[in-house]
Amino acid sequence: MHHPPTAPHFVQLHQTDHDAVRAELAAGLLAQPPQVAPKFFYDALGSRLFDAITELAEYYPTRTEGAIFREHGAAMAQRVTAGAVLVDLGAGSCAKATGLFPVLRPAAYVAVDISVDYLRETMGELQQRHRAMPMLGLGMDFSAQLALPPAVADWLERHDLSSAPRCVFYPGSSIGNFNPAEALALLRQAHAVCAAGGPGGGILIGVDRVKDKAILEPAYDDPLGVTAAFNRNLLLHTNALLGTDFTPARWKHVAFFNQAESRIEMHLQSDGAQTVRWPGGERRFADGEQLHTENSYKWEPADFDALLREAGFGPSTHWTDPRDWFSVFFAPA
Ligand code: AVI
Repeated sequence: MHHPPTAPHFVQLHQTDHDAVRAELAAGLLAQPPQVAPKFFYDALGSRLFDAITELAEYYPTRTEGAIFREHGAAMAQRVTAGAVLVDLGAGSCAKATGLFPVLRPAAYVAVDISVDYLRETMGELQQRHRAMPMLGLGMDFSAQLALPPAVADWLERHDLSSAPRCVFYPGSSIGNFNPAEALALLRQAHAVCAAGGPGGGILIGVDRVKDKAILEPAYDDPLGVTAAFNRNLLLHTNALLGTDFTPARWKHVAFFNQAESRIEMHLQSDGAQTVRWPGGERRFADGEQLHTENSYKWEPADFDALLREAGFGPSTHWTDPRDWFSVFFAPA
């Protein structure tokens, strides 16, 4: 049977509030210790540098997770109800989710990303390949608040999917970039998204695991310096957003595993004493002082299962790789 293509639907929740962004960046630079949030890594160049990181031999998470999906997709399909609405958090190119369409057989696809413009580019083409599947691109910063807006409920109702199960998909171990309290808050909201749908929903989420620091540290401090460039590019992005006068060459990339906190920390270390200025403010950095740019938490499976339970999910199942480096969890709502 020939279906005419359904056009993807797009909703952008809010436009960027530039004053709020500048205020957030300035507050971080003036804080003790100074910090810039990792979401500011991802300007156009930063996103490309991150893609390059995923190609590095030392950066195992992306390819390890991909191998887990390939190896255990059929087992995952036993747990994830077919005919669900697949809600893809941080969808980007949508490649990971669409690779799983044949296995998960969703009834509809909701791709969530901070900017709907990026989704517009990929989803038009995606709709051609999956002509009958309803698709919605949703532009929102879910790290701040994940509740799906009423426009999504209306859209689901129009497609007769109000009582379909909902599967939240959050791959890439991006959950690791939140501290445990923030991760719990996000998972609680993900649970509410699933619970608002019909029975059979749940979350499918990629989680990087605790392992030897001899494996972890090179993944965040590679010999080609790609991660160093990714880290320093944050300064250029901050210059563009706040009008700071950071000179990236005067900042050294630092990455190490903090065992007590179970996280990789990334910092930029001042090479010499220097003052960074921006319209309306300045900050003096001592020689060797560090600007904290990212945490990437690594989880033990039992602890992550406990976090899912605390967020309201049922007992989880997880699949791993032969080296136990990464896990993909499914937890029913
Ligand atoms: C996006 N996120 C899961 C990456 C990570 O591994 O924490 C970001 C990254 N930072 C340095 N390399 C990769």
